[in-house]
Amino acid sequence: MTLATRPGAIRQHAFRGADVAGDIRQKYGFDGDLLRIFAANKGEVVHKWHHYIPIYDRYFARYRGTPVRFLEIGVSKGGSLRMWREYFGPDAVLFGIDIDPDCARFDGQAGQVRIGSQDDPAFLAGVVAEMGGVDVVLDDGSHVMAHVRASLAALFPVLATGGLYMIEDLHTAYWKNWGGGYGMPANVFGDLAKIIDDMHRPYHGHADRMPGVGPFVSGVHVHDSIIVLEKDAVFAPVHSRVG
Ligand SMILES: C[S@@+](CC[C@H](N)C(=O)[O-])C[C@H]1O[C@@H](n2cnc3c(N)ncnc32)[C@H](O)[C@@H]1O
Repeated sequence: MTLATRPGAIRQHAFRGADVAGDIRQKYGFDGDLLRIFAANKGEVVHKWHHYIPIYDRYFARYRGTPVRFLEIGVSKGGSLRMWREYFGPDAVLFGIDIDPDCARFDGQAGQVRIGSQDDPAFLAGVVAEMGGVDVVLDDGSHVMAHVRASLAALFPVLATGGLYMIEDLHTAYWKNWGGGYGMPANVFGDLAKIIDDMHRPYHGHADRMPGVGPFVSGVHVHDSIIVLEKDAVFAPVHSRVG
């Protein structure tokens, strides 16, 4: 296997063209504000896969112009928080967390930045308390399987009803160095089967497989490298014959 095709080398997928916006527009038929904000960025670096831009807009558009409480795990160069500020507007409560103390320099710019690890439940609880609750979580942190799971277990139970939990860059679920692997039990995509089982408990009666998460999930979406979990009121299912 050459370096160019070695799993785990994301360099091979780097866009080599000059027109980022044109590429996204042409491939995905998307031409919304987020495309402009991302592609025209001249400030701090934001690093996103092209196909994420329309996916973000599909799920996040309804929160624009609202006081949405948005938490991004992974601040890095600070560019994504700036992008989210421009996208969601001045009323959004934007927080970013990162393990890298250097990211503290972005605190108070586009949003608030707190330093700690995404696998530390006490740290996460403190951040959510400071935010006054959380409506949307975007996990763009380490992408290590154990960390992704720890954040989900800590944050999904406190996610507001009507909220969204998005995890990106899950190609790492197939990579050993991130704790994943093709067909391996540690691969977080395998957790979706557990969540789906919990969503259907009224029909099989077995104990929850992901307590705190599965029973409260109202919808699951999978895109290339992205999982979206919707949290909404879940009612005992009923049916009617009408007419
Ligand atoms: C992919 S970058 C984030 C990119 C940024 N959101 C963007 O769109 O430009 C991942 C970030 O996660 C941080 N990180 C790694 N391990 C972490 C952990 N255990 N807890 C919190 N952040 C972590 C890294 O320091 C890095 O800045």
